[in-house]
Amino acid sequence: MDRREFLRNSAALTAATVVAPELLQATDKQVPSTTTEEGQGSAPKLIASAPMLQNYASNSIGVAFAVNDWANGYVLISEHPDLADARKIKCGGYRVTDLTDRVQQIRVTGLKPATRYYYRIGADRIQYKAGYSMKITGNEEDPRVYSFVTAGKGADGHFCVINDTHATFDTFDKLTEKIAALAPSCVVWNGDATNCEERIDSQVRIFLDPPITRKDYASEIPYLFAPGNHDSRGMANRHFERLWMWRQPEERSSRDWDLGRNFAVRMGDIAMIGLDTAEDKQDTNPIFASLFNSAAYREAQVAWLQDALKRKEIATAPFLVAFCHIPLFSDDPTHNPGDVTPADYDPQYSADFAYWQRTCARLWTPLLEKAKCQLIITAHMHTYRYDAPTATRKWGHLVGGGPRLNEAAKFPTVIEGKAEGRKLHITVHNILTCAIQDEYWFNAR
Ligand SMILES: [Fe+2]
Ligand SMILES: [Fe+2]
Repeated sequence: MDRREFLRNSAALTAATVVAPELLQATDKQVPSTTTEEGQGSAPKLIASAPMLQNYASNSIGVAFAVNDWANGYVLISEHPDLADARKIKCGGYRVTDLTDRVQQIRVTGLKPATRYYYRIGADRIQYKAGYSMKITGNEEDPRVYSFVTAGKGADGHFCVINDTHATFDTFDKLTEKIAALAPSCVVWNGDATNCEERIDSQVRIFLDPPITRKDYASEIPYLFAPGNHDSRGMANRHFERLWMWRQPEERSSRDWDLGRNFAVRMGDIAMIGLDTAEDKQDTNPIFASLFNSAAYREAQVAWLQDALKRKEIATAPFLVAFCHIPLFSDDPTHNPGDVTPADYDPQYSADFAYWQRTCARLWTPLLEKAKCQLIITAHMHTYRYDAPTATRKWGHLVGGGPRLNEAAKFPTVIEGKAEGRKLHITVHNILTCAIQDEYWFNAR
C-alpha cells in the first residue's frame, strides 16, 4: 500500500465517524444526572487513562489524562517518592479551573532543571446543574506514584523519535515497547499521530488511552510534539490544544504568542528545536475551502527560530538537532516541493501535495546551518531514508519510516539519539525486523 492509498483508506475510515461540530463541544454534552456520592451507587470509574507527560521542558511539564465524567483534575507532585510536601496543582489556570468531562490538563510549573519528580493524578467528580448548583460528589486518585526527570543541561542527552503513527495501534504497540527498552529522557512525536479526527474521543484513544500494552507509555517518559499535516485535519484536530496542551507562554515572547507548538529544549549536551511545517497543500488549494493559514505560520516561525537559536542554553549545546514533519530536502526532481500555486498540481511532480517543504527549507535552514545544526529529523514520506551532508548542505537529513508492519520497504522506525562524549550517536531501529537499520555519528559543534 503506498502513502496515498494508505491515507485514502484512513480518510474513508474516519469519514464514517464524522459528526456535527457542535457534538465536539464538551459543554454541549448532557450533564450526567446519575452521579452518586462517593462510596455509593455504581458510577463508572472517573479517571479513564494513565497520565501523559506533555511538553518536556526544564522547569515545567504538562500532565493530561482522560476522565469519564465531569471532573476537576489535579496533580500532587513532590521531589520525594512518598509525596511528602507534595504541591497540589489543579487543572486550568487563574480565575476558574478547567471543568471538563473528557480530558484533564494540568500545567505544572516552577520545577527545577534535570530533577526527578514524583507525582500522582486525581480528580473530584463534579455535579454541575447551573449557577450555584454545583457540588463535589466523589474523588478518585490513581494509586500509582509516577516519576519523571525534567530537561536541562544536567539531564541525560538521550531522545527517541517516532512519526506517522496514524492511529495504527499494532505498530504503536511495538514502537512503545522499543522506547520502553531504550528508556530515553524524552520522545519526539514527529507528526501525523492522527488521521483526520472529528471527535475528542478519537484523540483520547490515540494519545491518552490507546489500545496497546503499555497504557503508561507517556507517564514517565515525557513527550514533545511536532505536528504533521494530518494533525490539523478534522474538527477536533482544529482544536488540538484541548488534547495536547500548548507550550508554556513564558517559553516565548509576546510576539510569538500564537506559536504554542514550537519547542527549543536543552537536554544534556543536545539542543532540540521543534518546528511546524503545517499542511502539505497550499492555503489556496480549493480543497481546503480557505480554512488553513499555513503560509503565514511558516514565516512567523522564522523570528521565533532566530531568537531560540540565540538562547544561551541552546547556543552552547554541543549538538543541535531540529525536528519537523515534512522533509526540508529532496533531490528527486519528481518530488513536489509544496510551493506550487494555486492548487499544488504540476504534471512534473508525482503527487499534488508536498513531498518536501521548499518554502520552510528556504526560511529556516539558513538559520539552522549558521548555528551549525548537525541533523534535521523529518517524517511524512512513510519511507525511511538518510540524506548525508554535502559540501553545500552541512546538515544531515533523516526521514522516519511508515506506519505499517506489513510493508517491508516502508518499515516503521524508532530513531534514537544519544550524546556520547564529543559525538552524537544516532541509531535507526527497524521495528519490522527488530534490528538496527543504520547508525550515524556527528561531531560536536
Ligand atoms: Fe503520514
Ligand atoms: Fe504527513
